[in-house]
Amino acid sequence: MQKLSERLMCIADMVKPCGCMADIGTDHAYVPIYLCMENKVKTAIAGDVSKGSAEKARQNVELSGLNERISVRLGSGITILKKEDKADCIVIAGMGGMLMCDILKNGDITGISQLVLQPQKDIPEVRHFVHSIGFKIEDEKMLCEDNKFYNIISAVRGGEEYTDTEYEFGKILISKKDKTLKAQLEHEIKISEALLPKVNEKRKQELEAQLLRYKEVLGCL
Ligand SMILES: C[S@@+](CC[C@H](N)C(=O)[O-])C[C@H]1O[C@@H](n2cnc3c(N)ncnc32)[C@H](O)[C@@H]1O
Repeated sequence: MQKLSERLMCIADMVKPCGCMADIGTDHAYVPIYLCMENKVKTAIAGDVSKGSAEKARQNVELSGLNERISVRLGSGITILKKEDKADCIVIAGMGGMLMCDILKNGDITGISQLVLQPQKDIPEVRHFVHSIGFKIEDEKMLCEDNKFYNIISAVRGGEEYTDTEYEFGKILISKKDKTLKAQLEHEIKISEALLPKVNEKRKQELEAQLLRYKEVLGCL
């Protein structure tokens, strides 16, 4: 199997050793293959709604020789999971945050003890959603790959409270004084400041409020 990208490696690193993990929207199935090869998980389910992606996953699993341990399934979200799978962990990566929340809403997650989520957008909404279903964020990481910023959230059962700022930027990232969050804020501030002279009054006020929030958090990092 080819080497995992930094993003996929970070996702795999955040999965706790367990009996069964499910990778929803797996595409290539690199994460379940890696986790089984490393014996970090005993078995895995690689699910995807696209026929082409499920076929790609099936071929990669075949090449890895892990057919006995990885079940590739074609279907939407976590509806592909069966009770007897006894999945402990769900990974959903590389899709929009709202789609991720919909996927988790439309299925049974009773037996799941860990969620590893890498939303491409709507990250504050995902943090809110995770709390709304009785999980707490136990770790969060950021990385920059090919000039794109990525957040990876690991959530386990439990409760906790966040302020609005913590939902927007990530409580753990702020408390860790995360270097990538700092780089992202510096980048966003530059873009917003360049935009200010070019926008109408309403947009200007929004951007100024955003800049204030960004600079306040940047001051803590
Ligand atoms: C950009 S790829 C991400 C692949 C991989 N998870 C990663 O992070 O590299 C998104 C994948 O999610 C799949 N997908 C989108 N909606 C889905 C759904 N409702 N259920 C299962 N898979 C879905 C797509 O078919 C696609 O293969």
